[in-house]
Amino acid sequence: MLILRRHAVLLCLVISFASASLVAQSSHPWTNTSLSPDERAAMVVKEMTLGEKISLLHGTGHEGLGPMSPKSIASNGGAGHVVGVPRLGIPDIQMSDAAYGVRASGKNGRYSTALPANLGAAASWDLQAAYDYGALIGRELRAQGFNMSLGGGVNLTREARNGRNFEYLGEDPILAGKLVGELIKGTQDQHMIGDIKHYALNNQETGRNAVNVNADERSMRETDLLAFEIGIRNGSPAGVMCSYNRVNGDYACDSKYLLTDVLRREWKFPGFVLSDWGAAHSIVRASAAGMDHEQPNEYFYGDALKKAVEAGQVPMAEVDDHVLRIVRSMFATGVIDDPPQKSVVDVERGFEVAQQIAEQAMVLLKNEKKQLPLDASKIKSLAIIGAHADVGMLSGGGSAQVDPPGGNVIMPPGKRNTVWGTPVWFPTSPMKAIQAKTKAKVSFDAGTDLNSATALARSADVAIVFASRWEIEGRDSDSLSLGDNQDELIAKVAAANPNTIVVLETGNPVSMPWVNNVNAILEAWYSGSRGADALANILFGDVNPSAKLPITFPKSEADLPHASVAKEPPGTQPASNDPDAWKKRLEGLPAFQSIYDEKLKVGYKWYDAEKKSVLFPFGYGLSYTTYSYSNLKVQPGKAATVSFTVKNTGSRAGAEIAQVYASLPATAGEPPKRLVGWSKVKLNPGESKDVTVEVEPLFLSIFNVEQKGWQLVGGEYGFLVGGSSQALPLKATISLK
Ligand code: BGC
Repeated sequence: MLILRRHAVLLCLVISFASASLVAQSSHPWTNTSLSPDERAAMVVKEMTLGEKISLLHGTGHEGLGPMSPKSIASNGGAGHVVGVPRLGIPDIQMSDAAYGVRASGKNGRYSTALPANLGAAASWDLQAAYDYGALIGRELRAQGFNMSLGGGVNLTREARNGRNFEYLGEDPILAGKLVGELIKGTQDQHMIGDIKHYALNNQETGRNAVNVNADERSMRETDLLAFEIGIRNGSPAGVMCSYNRVNGDYACDSKYLLTDVLRREWKFPGFVLSDWGAAHSIVRASAAGMDHEQPNEYFYGDALKKAVEAGQVPMAEVDDHVLRIVRSMFATGVIDDPPQKSVVDVERGFEVAQQIAEQAMVLLKNEKKQLPLDASKIKSLAIIGAHADVGMLSGGGSAQVDPPGGNVIMPPGKRNTVWGTPVWFPTSPMKAIQAKTKAKVSFDAGTDLNSATALARSADVAIVFASRWEIEGRDSDSLSLGDNQDELIAKVAAANPNTIVVLETGNPVSMPWVNNVNAILEAWYSGSRGADALANILFGDVNPSAKLPITFPKSEADLPHASVAKEPPGTQPASNDPDAWKKRLEGLPAFQSIYDEKLKVGYKWYDAEKKSVLFPFGYGLSYTTYSYSNLKVQPGKAATVSFTVKNTGSRAGAEIAQVYASLPATAGEPPKRLVGWSKVKLNPGESKDVTVEVEPLFLSIFNVEQKGWQLVGGEYGFLVGGSSQALPLKATISLK
């Protein structure tokens, strides 16, 4: 009885304590949702002590990147954790990497969907798919207890050997910028703090903590920075992650030009700038330049910043601005009013979205003799060769890595699940998915022994060779080759079987010395949790491919703007086993130069201007049907209104990505043409549709360095319309201004 009574008293105490704290919390004036995020944040900042402010300006540590704060105990297991101010109702920020899905779910005892690699999603050119991609990530982050995404990678593919291109959205700033904007909207609509990264010009991994990118202002603004400008304008991300590299002499996270002049003043960015993990390099300089937050540690923005404020080296107003930007972002994205509720992710919904996007992402590069789609009723035997296609499909590595359910299906003995530096294969078996479509005998050969692979190929009606190249953050490739003897394997199989199909699992363009020897080539990228089902649907024609390349496939390394990736002089980088490497990087490594002398000529603009023929051009991709274009009309509108008709001239329903390019007046001094718009048109056999593409002024403008702004140059504009950057049957010219 006594015990019961004591419990009742305790319960009352707990209830009254809880309701008192609820009252205290809800009585804060900033809980009023009718006020703007800025008004609400300003009220909070006024109440904060300097210590509380500082605590919002840095992380609590990351394994292997310096000391961990004891406060990291409250981390949700993501890459970043920030201690909030509970007494004022400001929660901790729990950040997770989330490029193509939520990272580290295996380690954390959770599960995440792997979407196709970002580059694959870009090949869909589909704004709704990009939104769905971001929304799925937002939902899974919420279910796992995170309130900030570290996705939103949009560095342009300037360097086709960059190991992180699979995490980005291709080589065109308008395509990449529009897609990342939708992806961010999708994520933030789930009440999640979104992010765009790595700002800016982080186009190579080699020596990324030391490289100094030399780029002229006009080129930066019209290429890499334009992708950020569009992404930020369209998607309103709360966070911008400043990158590891230097830009024209300053570290990106110390760059007043990037962070204040462009981001805050010109683009009117109201959110906060967080450093990439170990990309902060100073206190006074970074704070004045506009870096709001340091990750993952508190080397600069912890006690040292506090002391700098107390000593008058950093004005309190600057600290208040950093804090305000963070808190207003929390209100603006809804993470305070509607915090994440931990639950389980919706696995089936994840599969559905991953498969739909994968089906829109795989690019049919070649299809001679109508090799595809396969006719299940006619094939008696199918040889599947290489790339572990019996059990799984490859994924991209590094901080983007999503963990496969049940672990890596191809794991070197003695290793754990997803160890940094080891390729991770998802349990999505092409062989099984293919076998499910046909009664034919489906056999597998690993492709490691050329004799056995060719013997199997020779014995089958059709041979499908799977070839892969793994990419990971932190390193670039030396070449465009597939490597691992795969070119020889493909050539040998093609010689043994006249019906050879190549399926590529790559995160970059690759060279194809065997291109003329095989009938069909399908670029499947890293295709996520449901890659095999999407692939089988395309191979057997249940899905008509519609994707188009968001990057050029050059013929060889010799055609790239740079013979090799700029590299640090030997001995200037800390050794990988140096326990103080993190500190040496923070304190600054000797710079080496990367010169962007290709200037505006990024991606297809380079090959166009230099008149270099390519293997497969930007915007290219085949379908099982054919399309015709007619009836082009261009009228001056806000800038220009382009209308035309697309017809499905084949016998299958399909979706054509109709592209509009513009050539600017000669006085503009631009590469031959640029993408200015597109429309994805769904058409039944024989059906025609009239399409209108509104081209906005920004997309036809050049950056005027003297006037520090965008300028529409008066003169003759050519508009070219068609199904790839090199198949543009319609052309019209108008005069603007
Ligand atoms: C990467 C970022 C990532 C961060 C946290 C860095 O090495 O460059 O993209 O968000 O780590 O994992």
